[in-house]
Amino acid sequence: MTAFTAKSTAEQVAKHFSNAINSKSGTITFNWPLPQLALTIATVLVTGVTQGTLGAEVALRISHHQPANLVLAGRSLSALNITKSTIEAANPVSVTLLELDLASQASVRAAARTANSYPFTIDVLINNAGIMAVPYTKTAEGLERQWATNHIGHFLFTNLIMPKLRASRSTARIVNVSSAGHKRSDIRWDDVGFGGGERYDKWAAYGQTKTANMLFSVALAKLGGVESFSCYPGRVRTNLVNSIPLEELVAAGWLHPDGSLVEDPKLKWKTIPEGAATIVAAAFDPELAKANGGYVVDSQLANDEAALYALDEKAAVRLWKLSEKIIGEKFLDA
Ligand SMILES: NC(=O)c1ccc[n+]([C@@H]2O[C@H](COP(=O)([O-])OP(=O)(O)OC[C@H]3O[C@@H](n4cnc5c(N)ncnc54)[C@H](OP(=O)(O)O)[C@@H]3O)[C@@H](O)[C@H]2O)c1
Repeated sequence: MTAFTAKSTAEQVAKHFSNAINSKSGTITFNWPLPQLALTIATVLVTGVTQGTLGAEVALRISHHQPANLVLAGRSLSALNITKSTIEAANPVSVTLLELDLASQASVRAAARTANSYPFTIDVLINNAGIMAVPYTKTAEGLERQWATNHIGHFLFTNLIMPKLRASRSTARIVNVSSAGHKRSDIRWDDVGFGGGERYDKWAAYGQTKTANMLFSVALAKLGGVESFSCYPGRVRTNLVNSIPLEELVAAGWLHPDGSLVEDPKLKWKTIPEGAATIVAAAFDPELAKANGGYVVDSQLANDEAALYALDEKAAVRLWKLSEKIIGEKFLDA
């Protein structure tokens, strides 16, 4: 067990796991000048990396430890370019941008085609992007938006690039960024779409997607050939609350009417570097390998902090099948 705490920062955790970051190895194969000349390289792909978010901090701190390739994925090329410039100004690292709108299966499929054409494997995939408690809307494919973005988009993208992950010379690792908010709702098995909006509860909708993130890691671990962990970064002021009216955040006791944080120790606010630390640990702590499918909090394995339904293997398989049915495509059997 590492000595990390809730106050550890992404910089400290990345430094601790520096070897894992720069030696996680995939291969790139050339047929010239020698047939099958293989170079060892490492690639990390992070979704949701707009400045001011947990994903941007994760990518920046990882970049200090020379992964051979860092792929930044997100729905806005201009936002991706800003993060790329920040990273390249700090480090000599190769940054690739990948346009990916997780709310659109068409966009996810196009992004996966691009990722599958890279001349390198993907060794670490960090499914971090997300939205929280947004008003009810449907995506182009008719799905409730949080379900589509937080779960279905990542489920589809991960499965479509599975050959790239499984080709990693080390065992590839997939991190699904979840939340303590998973305790707000189990999967609503018979009504994931909230009756087309009629029964919509934006917090239950967020909760079921965060449960789905955890069950997805359980299923990936069961699938074999990859490692997967879900994690809770902690309560952090980012852009995530931007869709929630200030009055609601004040009524919840999180913010003051002027928008500043309520500094109640019970709320356990973390800074962005403290929140990002747990994501970096979930991606690189080699010790976690023995608890494949587990849930990480404060940079430590914390399955005892999870709702039972969110780590249940039968539920994980059921979710896999339900997700395949929603997408209309079958993948490897979890
Ligand atoms: N902050 C917290 O307190 C907290 C607590 C628990 C869990 N989490 C989890 O941590 C993760 C990161 O959250 P955060 O706090 O960093 O939130 P954030 O500041 O709102 O960042 C979310 C990121 O996801 C991207 N994104 C949203 N919709 C997308 C889509 N359709 N396609 C592709 N990318 C999309 C955003 O891009 P745009 O800039 O284009 O919108 C942004 O880069 C989420 O999964 C969240 O559930 C956060």
